[in-house]
Parts: sequence; C-alpha cells; structure tokens
Amino acid sequence: MQILPAPLAGWTDYAFRRVLVACGAQEVWTEMIAATALARGNAKTVKMITTIPEPVYQVVQLFGNNVADFVTAIKSGVLKDYAEINVNLGCPAHKIVKNHSGSWYMTDFKRTRELLTACREATRATGQKLSVKCRLGWDTDVAVPFAQLCANCGVDRIIVHGRLGVDGYRGVADWHAIARVKAAVSVPVIANGDVRDRASAEHCLAVTGADGVMLGRALCGAPWRIRLDDCLPPADEINRLMDLQAQWHNGNPSDLIKHNLAYAKHLKHCQ
Ligand SMILES: Cc1cc2nc3c(=O)[nH]c(=O)nc-3n(C[C@H](O)[C@H](O)[C@H](O)COP(=O)(O)O)c2cc1C
Repeated sequence: MQILPAPLAGWTDYAFRRVLVACGAQEVWTEMIAATALARGNAKTVKMITTIPEPVYQVVQLFGNNVADFVTAIKSGVLKDYAEINVNLGCPAHKIVKNHSGSWYMTDFKRTRELLTACREATRATGQKLSVKCRLGWDTDVAVPFAQLCANCGVDRIIVHGRLGVDGYRGVADWHAIARVKAAVSVPVIANGDVRDRASAEHCLAVTGADGVMLGRALCGAPWRIRLDDCLPPADEINRLMDLQAQWHNGNPSDLIKHNLAYAKHLKHCQ
C-alpha cells in the first residue's frame, strides 16, 4: 500500500519534509506554492521549493489562476529536481477560491481543461509527472466527471480528498465517493481524508479500492505516523525529531514554534 504525506500549508516545509523521510516516508510533498510568484522569481517562494537532499520521490504542488504562469514556472527549470508537479484543485480557503484557484476549478471544467492541457504539455517537455489533488466538488459532488476530465488531460494520478470545498474540514470524508472515482478512471487514485492510523488506512483502502492513501492532519507533530505504526515513539525519539526539525528549519521562526508545540502535545503522552 502506498502511504503518502499530504501537502499542508505552514507544515510541510523543508525541515518537516526531511523529518518525514527520517520517519520512513518514501515520498514528500511541498505545501501549495503560488505559480505566479514562482514565475516571477519571488525569492521567498523560490526558497520554499528547496528540494531535500535525501533520495526520495519529491512532488511540488502549484496553485494559481494564470495558466501562463504555471507554464513559465514549469519551463523555467526552477522545479527541475522535482519528479512530479501536482496542481492544487482542492483548496477551499476563501482568499484562494475568490481568485479562481484551488477548488474553484471544480466549478469550471473548461478552465480546468485549459490549465491541465497546458501543464501536461509543459511537463512532457521537462519529462516530469503531472498529477492533480482535488475534492469531490465545490458545493456539489462532481468528482467522477471531474476526475474523468483530468484523466483525459493526461494526468498521471489523481488524489481525491473526500469532502466538498464548502465543507472545509468539517464532517466526515466520503470514501464511497472516492470509490466511485476509482471505478471511473484508469489512472491511479489516491484516497485522502480522515486517514490517521493503520486501521483507518486499511478501512479506507477497502472502501475506496484506491491505489494508496494520503495522510494530512494526523502528521502534524506526529510524523512517525507515516509508518502507520500505532504506538507512540519513546520520548527520546520525539526529542530527536524535534532537534532535527530545529536544525533543518530554514523558514519563519513562528512556524518552528508551531511545530514544537505540536510535538510537545504528543511528548506529553509518553511514559
Ligand atoms: C493546515 C492545513 C494546510 C493544508 N494545506 C494544503 C495545501 O497546501 N495543499 C493541499 O492540496 N491541501 C492542503 N490541505 C489539505 C490536506 O492536504 C488534506 O487534503 C486534508 O487535510 C484532508 O486530509 P486529512 O484528513 O488526512 O487531514 C491542508 C490542510 C490543513 C489542515
């Protein structure tokens, strides 16, 4: 079974991606990166896409509303060390959706086709894989026709978070809806939403028939969960991961505090 760590804005930074690998992850994802900022060479954004030195499969996730900026970013060479480019078609945040990015695309199939066709052409030229991460829809479930559209545009895999955009992170992820997507397309489908341990991962795979699962919130402060290892590591091990997180941290100091508080929550339960 494939177990992937999800892109998490403010969490899956450079240091955390390395910590995930130290915990056994075989693949890591950046958080969502603004294609337009990247196309303009914004220094802060370029720093966010620093690849980690460990020899694992690395995916960069782009979001935005300007097709030409996606193409410029992909063709610029700045992403060349990433094996796969993922297009964010699922972010529900108001500031993203109002700019016609993220899960807004699920309301406009024509625009999605334009974006993915252009990204597919650009990634063919660079020899990179292309994937999408979407939800079930914005305010109504369009996951099956949307996934078919993405597959027809030539994406290599589809990650589906089993909620609508309007639901944010409320309620329970609908794994049966993901199963319908899996049955409708021939490209690999990765199921996402409410997977946090071995039991939920196995249950999710059984319901969806997906090719793998992606874990998100469960990893915050608990990157060892990528092993689907149900027991809490000893305090020494958590302290070692916190040290690595601090040693490798290259971003905002407030993000490191956030990581430390999240680790500390688990540390409290040791012994
Ligand atoms: C704090 C936070 C940040 C997120 N950032 C991103 C992001 O950058 N890109 C993305 O595709 N999804 C993002 N998501 C959604 C997650 O990747 C995932 O789809 C969602 O949390 C459901 O999975 P889970 O139930 O395992 O957490 C974010 C979610 C949270 C809670």
